[in-house]
Amino acid sequence: MDRASDYGSEGWGFNSLRARHHHMGHPVAVQELKARLAGARAVAALTGAGISADSGVPTFRGADGLWQTHRAEDLATPEAFARDPRLVWEWYNWRRELIAAKSPNAAHYALVDLERRVERFWLITQNVDGLHPAAGSQKLSEIHGNIWKVRCTQCGQVGTNSAVPILIPPRCPTCNGLLRPHIVWFGESLDPVDLERSFSAVRSCEVLLIVGTSGIVYPAASFASLAKEAGAFVAEVNLDPTPNTQIVDVAIRGRAKDIVPVLL
Ligand code: OAD
Repeated sequence: MDRASDYGSEGWGFNSLRARHHHMGHPVAVQELKARLAGARAVAALTGAGISADSGVPTFRGADGLWQTHRAEDLATPEAFARDPRLVWEWYNWRRELIAAKSPNAAHYALVDLERRVERFWLITQNVDGLHPAAGSQKLSEIHGNIWKVRCTQCGQVGTNSAVPILIPPRCPTCNGLLRPHIVWFGESLDPVDLERSFSAVRSCEVLLIVGTSGIVYPAASFASLAKEAGAFVAEVNLDPTPNTQIVDVAIRGRAKDIVPVLL
């Protein structure tokens, strides 16, 4: 598909070199993005903690973020787990208890709608809370893992464990090895299949919709510029400016749950 010619005659008249920054509900930005989404045959979406903030799940950065009160090095690294698996599991158990009480919001559901409408769609989330699959998303890569999945440190088996509270430390039902959260920690690599699928969606989409991520954790932080280079129309929905704001075609300032449903 030749995107340049797809868009060449539409007369949008937007200046792709300068992002337009708009506050919530700005009709021009919202209408433009809405039309882009309605006309696109290939859409990719990237989400971060901000989309789940509207469900009451804490984000990582920012005033109330988890990394304000917890040191990532002590809790979200393979070294931390090797040193003190019990401490790491206590923290994940606390987060599981918190997330178990939360439900998907209008933004999660809107992305399910989008998935059903668009010919080729892929959702890439950095969130581990499982709220996208809970809403019904199927064309989805959870590139940082899922807090409801466990992986055996001995035999590598991945399973689902939704016990709240979880028995600490949990043991593998097959080999009795120590289980760990099936989450990508700092210093660990992403699953190559997820990664390939995500990069391919970002490189081949006509529209990339970025929602509620601070845009500083790689590789997701590179998706906006990758999609731009490949000729996509890139949009950001966030409460605050991020490093992506300067790169995108439209930046809409507001809450995910208020903005994303309006885009469909
Ligand atoms: P961050 O906590 O870094 O960023 C959350 C973003 O959401 C910020 O840019 C906020 O401005 C924005 N935001 C907050 N509330 C919002 C709302 N209601 N609507 C729209 N936007 C809102 O979270 P991530 O970017 O997801 O890694 O962080 C990336 C990764 O860093 C996470 O996946 C996690 C963390 O360490 C792992 O768990 C492996």
